Amino acid sequence: MEYSIETYGLNKTYEEVVAVKGLDLRVEKGCFYGFLGPNGAGKSTTIKMLTGIVPPTSGEARLLGIPLTRQPLQIKRRIGVVPEDLCLFENLTAREYLAFVGRMYKLPAAVSLRRTEELLELLGLTDARKTLILEYSHGMKKKISLAAALIHDPDLLFLDEPFEGIDAVASRTIKEVLQQMTAQGRTIFLTSHILTIVEQLCTHVGIIHQGELIAQGPIAEVAEGDTLENRFVHIVGRGQTDVAGLSWLGGRAV
Ligand SMILES: Nc1ncnc2c1ncn2[C@@H]1O[C@H](COP(=O)(O)OP(=O)(O)OP(=O)(O)O)[C@@H](O)[C@H]1O
Ligand SMILES: [Mg+2]
Repeated sequence: MEYSIETYGLNKTYEEVVAVKGLDLRVEKGCFYGFLGPNGAGKSTTIKMLTGIVPPTSGEARLLGIPLTRQPLQIKRRIGVVPEDLCLFENLTAREYLAFVGRMYKLPAAVSLRRTEELLELLGLTDARKTLILEYSHGMKKKISLAAALIHDPDLLFLDEPFEGIDAVASRTIKEVLQQMTAQGRTIFLTSHILTIVEQLCTHVGIIHQGELIAQGPIAEVAEGDTLENRFVHIVGRGQTDVAGLSWLGGRAV
């Protein structure tokens, strides 16, 4: 089995908080992996560790077969990431920013320019290409972050809530492009709270709860014949669905 992501007992502790505990991920090459978990479960921390934004406290990982700590640059050339906290140079226009990212990945200028035009067209940003990013709406910034993650044609793509703030039309287009990527053997590791999107796109899921991976495998196996939402709520809900609601909403006539 060829894996794009393997982690062995990966841990991250922030002072008192154990954010990720003994994580053993196995993400096969070419799979569309949905990484699910409630707020604060450790999803973004995992992505930050795997993309070199924060160092793990302990444990090991291999991306695309390469040890994470030994050859980080060799890995970074081949991965893309849309992080949770977008990190853009907002005093640039979309074209300037993508040209900068293209240079960073050492793309030939003509390739970078052609891909920039295609990405802006695909994401419906052509009209805004000369506007400074700081004037963009939230969804437009997310789209530019996605364009920057795709421009060097990565073998492995990390997406932390990529559809949050994106309109339905653009979402449809993005989903199609992402499916094309995995169909051609690239691997995508996605976090999303929108489980219908996960069900549409993902071949495999992992569920993390309080820093620990509690289920992992092909989506049908994890769902056990139920909907993914029902399984997810059952696994991590801890009876929260049974709470009575807000005391002041009970029984008062409006
Ligand atoms: N920089 C930090 N310093 C201290 N604690 C942190 C830091 N970043 C995250 N944490 C803690 O680590 C835990 C995991 O956070 P993380 O951001 O990975 O969750 P998440 O699964 O991405 O949640 P969400 O769905 O809300 O994005 C949380 O308890 C959080 O409070
Ligand atoms: Mg997060």
